[in-house]
Amino acid sequence: MRLLIRRDGAAVSAEAARIVQDAMASLDYPVLGLSTGRTVTGLYQELSRSHAAGELDFSRVTTFNLDEYVDLGPDHPSSFARFMHVELFSKINLDPSRINVPDGLAPDLEAHCLDYEALIQSSGGIDLQILGIGTDGHIAFNEPGSSLGSRTRLKALTDETRRQNASSFGREEKVPRVAITMGVGTILEARSCLLLAIGRDKAAAIRDSIEGPVTSQITASALQLHPNVTVVIDEDAAHLLRRRSYYAQVEEAELEMANRSTPAER
Ligand code: GLP
Repeated sequence: MRLLIRRDGAAVSAEAARIVQDAMASLDYPVLGLSTGRTVTGLYQELSRSHAAGELDFSRVTTFNLDEYVDLGPDHPSSFARFMHVELFSKINLDPSRINVPDGLAPDLEAHCLDYEALIQSSGGIDLQILGIGTDGHIAFNEPGSSLGSRTRLKALTDETRRQNASSFGREEKVPRVAITMGVGTILEARSCLLLAIGRDKAAAIRDSIEGPVTSQITASALQLHPNVTVVIDEDAAHLLRRRSYYAQVEEAELEMANRSTPAER
């Protein structure tokens, strides 16, 4: 796990945008896994800006969103489909046929979950999965107790998550009780993952995910099992980590090694 601690949210977004752009540049047909929430809005602004500046082309990119509320469609102002349209899709040149968001209005939700998994597979799998984290340590909507092998399915939301996400609904009672979410197992199959966290309210979840045991009670901790994860967080989200100074040393050492010229270059 690569852990990068940055000064503030803006620096987290800038670093995350660099990582996404590098991944896109290395692939002919990138498949990106996308997340919603306040944390990723800065990243999406950076990517939109690069696109507007003519530096980033999304025409060959396929996207899969992590989750959606059951009973909400793209026309609902609080749906994740709407969030993605407003924050990113309307600002870049993605081919609409390559955009995939779980459909909260699907007539047969269980069949839709199976189809979503199959679609990820037939697209060649996800190259880079962008993730935020809930205050209860969830990734996507994999609430505490989710199997670490879980696949795309329906999941009941905890009161904590419904409270955390209430702002876009006005009132907690309006937040749906069930969502469609990629599973932890689905996420672990992405070839690489990028986990972002900003702010003090994420500090405990980040500490438990990174320095705690792997447990279905904190589903982000499952990322410890993945061989290619980068975590980018700000100082506030990092403030409960015990080995903070060591993580900074690792980053310095990595930079030093990268800057070392090979014998052929000398
Ligand atoms: C929701 C989403 C998660 C996201 C989390 C964090 O619960 N399902 O994928 O990581 O919100 O949201 P925020 O970035 O607004 O704190």
